[in-house]
Amino acid sequence: MEPIYLDHAATTPMHPNVIKKMNDTMRDVFGNPSSIHHFGRSARAILDDNRRYLAQTIGADEKELYFTSGGTEADNLALIGVALANQNKGKHIITTEIEHHANLHAAEYLESIGFNVTYLPVDEAGYVNPSDLLNYLCDDTILVSIMLINNEVGAIQPIKDIAKLLNGHQAYLHTDAVQAYGLLNIDVNELGVDLLSVSAHKLNGPKGIGFLYAQKDVKFNALQYGGHQERLKRPGTESLPSIVGLRTAIQQIEDNKYSNFKLYSRYRDLFYQRLKESEIEFMVNGNIDQLAPTILNLSFANTKVESLLMSLDLEGIAASSGSACTAGSIEPSHVLTAMYGADHPNTKNSIRFSFGLANNEDQMIEAAERVIKVVKRLTGN
Ligand SMILES: Cc1ncc(COP(=O)(O)O)c(C=O)c1O
Repeated sequence: MEPIYLDHAATTPMHPNVIKKMNDTMRDVFGNPSSIHHFGRSARAILDDNRRYLAQTIGADEKELYFTSGGTEADNLALIGVALANQNKGKHIITTEIEHHANLHAAEYLESIGFNVTYLPVDEAGYVNPSDLLNYLCDDTILVSIMLINNEVGAIQPIKDIAKLLNGHQAYLHTDAVQAYGLLNIDVNELGVDLLSVSAHKLNGPKGIGFLYAQKDVKFNALQYGGHQERLKRPGTESLPSIVGLRTAIQQIEDNKYSNFKLYSRYRDLFYQRLKESEIEFMVNGNIDQLAPTILNLSFANTKVESLLMSLDLEGIAASSGSACTAGSIEPSHVLTAMYGADHPNTKNSIRFSFGLANNEDQMIEAAERVIKVVKRLTGN
């Protein structure tokens, strides 16, 4: 039986061109970009070129990009770094109940050291209501952090509207764009954000690399101490092969703008249509017309998430019950709990299917058939 990977929101396979470019870099450019000799200068030139390329993919200046070990570190640097550097202006932060744990646990840490954090609720479709922000925004607010695409249900948040509401207010706006970079066309100026987090392994790049965009006037503290790299904000010898991998991954997408969006929508729709034609009972968590095409979170009545995941795995379907970090855990998803309330059945019978490079059209029909078989068996139909 061919295994079918429907967990691209957890991580994606690397694009063959990414692997090739990373191999070439590992073989040919091993110098430390901080060294002044020829080997170092060659590495520095490649580092600078990649930083410039990556910055222009989001309409930023190269001096506004800070390489990190991925999305978690970028989120931590944004939340904790901004909070520590701006506490003289206020100690209030606003985020949402549906953020990734990279954000939520950083926010909890800030609470433990004396900051106040407001967690905005979402509606049943997983959206933040921008006007809710105004109920909580105060003179003391220094940071608002709201993700662009939710990693569990795929809801695309109204970041532009939120940015407009913050016009003239001292609070910086951060967005976690880990699930959005490479899928949506992102321009930080059009979007109106001051900080933005990216991770390479969600867009067919390597694990362990990402960046934080921080607009040049944003004040934030480093969370580590060491060398002078990343303008002192993130010391440590740069992982050049990984940075080249990230650039190559986004370049595949930039070179054929939006083709992934269309392709993955097609995969998602094929899978969804086949399920709809069957007799199994299910509902979409979220509003299908407004979701990122890579993610489809479905609730199957009268089932349990643990048995669903186990049975799907036996049928060769790799899916997930929630964010990658909580995959395998039996705790109800915090995102679905925020959408429906605690103890709602959907928090305990939902599966996230996510589509991408490892898929093809034929697999979508086959995957749907296997899901139908599993659900029929588990519900006794
Ligand atoms: C929305 C979101 N933010 C942050 C992260 C963490 O990124 P990384 O795995 O690169 O640390 C993830 C990964 O699951 C994510 O989906």
